[in-house]
Amino acid sequence: MTELRTTFQYDAVAEAYQHRPPYPDEVFDHLEALVVDEPRNVLDIGAGEGAIARPLAPRVDRVDAIDMSQAMVDVGRRRPGGDRANLHWHVSSIETADLNGPYALVTAGASIHWMPWEETFNRIVPHLTQNAQLAIVEHGPVDVPWGDELLPVIKKHTRNPGYDPTFDIVDAIRDRGLLDLTDQKMTAPVTQQKTVADYIEWMHSTSTLARDLMSAEEAAEFDTAVHEVLTPYARDGVLELTIVAQLSWGRPKASQPGTEGSAAPAGSE
Ligand SMILES: C[S@@+](CC[C@H](N)C(=O)[O-])C[C@H]1O[C@@H](n2cnc3c(N)ncnc32)[C@H](O)[C@@H]1O
Repeated sequence: MTELRTTFQYDAVAEAYQHRPPYPDEVFDHLEALVVDEPRNVLDIGAGEGAIARPLAPRVDRVDAIDMSQAMVDVGRRRPGGDRANLHWHVSSIETADLNGPYALVTAGASIHWMPWEETFNRIVPHLTQNAQLAIVEHGPVDVPWGDELLPVIKKHTRNPGYDPTFDIVDAIRDRGLLDLTDQKMTAPVTQQKTVADYIEWMHSTSTLARDLMSAEEAAEFDTAVHEVLTPYARDGVLELTIVAQLSWGRPKASQPGTEGSAAPAGSE
């Protein structure tokens, strides 16, 4: 499963990423409020094309955006806000990254499930300010009326058939004794619109449904099936989505020597 994270190194996946729904603005209000120490520097781990890092950069002193995918970072530099002077991109895995702390906040948007938690936390904990928090952010559509119809299509084509949507990543990290959870917050729902075509591209931006993992025939079959499911729900080809984000934040803990190296369990996207 952890090998699926290399899917993000495909150029087409990085390009398709722009079709994912943006995080609600409220996310950035909460993240900004978590930065209480000086300097107001943030480390964004598994930054991708900067869905967290780019909107957060204008609100803090500096964001170091670390991602192991050159393709994602290249796309991120070209996206709005990606060339800000206080946004520093680094192509590296978090396990081996040279960090330039101290950091008053560490953010992980849809990324922590890809990382070996012990190694990751051992790497970041020495670079935290006194009150720094790790904020784990996830988001996605809720109350999706086409969900039940789309599920068999996803199950047929996904490269992660064992994906468990009920798995709670924050609980799992706590259970390993790696996080003193401070609080959790769900944002208010926001409505976003997306064309059926863009929705299909969004699905191809995931590690498990990337076009690069399919033959041309399979990708065409997938696109047709998704199109057939979604079209009855669209008005003039446009779907209405309700997006909610969940933030969980707390103090990450380094592990004892000898407990490192176990891979994180299967994640989602
Ligand atoms: C689903 S994307 C999330 C991107 C972004 N944070 C967001 O919220 O949209 C996950 C990203 O984590 C990166 N990643 C996975 N494992 C990593 C690791 N060990 N170190 C650094 N980046 C990693 C992948 O390359 C990918 O770009």
